[in-house]
Amino acid sequence: MRSRDDAQNCESARGPGGPAKPGEQPPEQNLMLRSNVSPMANRTERVILVFGGAGGIGAVVGTHLASGGSRVVIADLNEAQAHAQASAINAEGGQAVGVACDVTNPELCDRAAQNALDSFGRLDAVVNCAGISQPQDTISLAPADWARMVDVQLNGSFYVAQACARRMWDKGGAIVFITSINAEAAFPRRAAYCSAKAGVAMLTKVLAIEWAERRIRVNAVGPAHVATPMTQQNIAAGNISEAQINARIPMGRLVQPGEVAGAVSFLLSEQAGFITGQSLYVDGGWLAYGYF
Ligand SMILES: NC(=O)c1ccc[n+]([C@@H]2O[C@H](COP(=O)([O-])OP(=O)(O)OC[C@H]3O[C@@H](n4cnc5c(N)ncnc54)[C@H](O)[C@@H]3O)[C@@H](O)[C@H]2O)c1
Repeated sequence: MRSRDDAQNCESARGPGGPAKPGEQPPEQNLMLRSNVSPMANRTERVILVFGGAGGIGAVVGTHLASGGSRVVIADLNEAQAHAQASAINAEGGQAVGVACDVTNPELCDRAAQNALDSFGRLDAVVNCAGISQPQDTISLAPADWARMVDVQLNGSFYVAQACARRMWDKGGAIVFITSINAEAAFPRRAAYCSAKAGVAMLTKVLAIEWAERRIRVNAVGPAHVATPMTQQNIAAGNISEAQINARIPMGRLVQPGEVAGAVSFLLSEQAGFITGQSLYVDGGWLAYGYF
């Protein structure tokens, strides 16, 4: 759907391929305008499934997308909280349903994806925010703890993506994984977490190139420390201190969950229509910083 302004920008004063007049948009920009979908089109149509959407980053992502007019399915291990989060969105005039899902279980991921179709008749996009954090010395890390971390972060991302892509196969869609600066930067006592996040960043690229012909875009958003319960628990457990984080981040503070939601929303939007296979870091300059 093109707005009147877009139509005027694209077609006034010259025919297709005609020379640009002074002050007119260059052809590339006109092409962008032509492919823009108006916000109103997004408001009534998109259905987005948010895994790990009951708490932390996922809760804010779900609310952000719903406030932009998308219908959302909140899938989370914490079933009661998933329903509560959906109810909170509905109470604000949005459209949401909650569903129980453990992303380490491919069948439950499949059921959550089907729930989007059953509830709203379609599935356009998926965001995987489900995750855990358990810093431990690697020398004494139990194989079961290693396996659990890889299962939730990496295997879960695969199960989620496969279940949803099967339902977006014929008409395209978008997938965003929440990774971390730890997909690039190694932290001590986080061997499984860093390895799994790096794996998700690579999975992002592989799926992007494999599914490009189905018009399914796959990207990742990698935050630095976000002000969420996960970070609060790590601060309370002495794994990190807020002062240390603030001193290390050039912008000098924690990431706000809304800033992660903004990056997710952009990558899901038509404005990112030719972006796929990318990791976008929301880190206040953490990864860029290479001085002492
Ligand atoms: N908080 C940070 O500082 C930070 C930084 C970088 C990346 N991340 C990543 O962002 C994602 C979200 O983190 P957060 O801070 O919001 O954490 P959080 O603990 O606040 O919320 C995580 C949510 O995921 C759900 N969940 C956990 N295991 C699940 C499973 N097996 N199946 C389905 N749902 C499950 C939880 O119930 C919860 O609702 C994680 O992947 C995390 O690694 C967080």
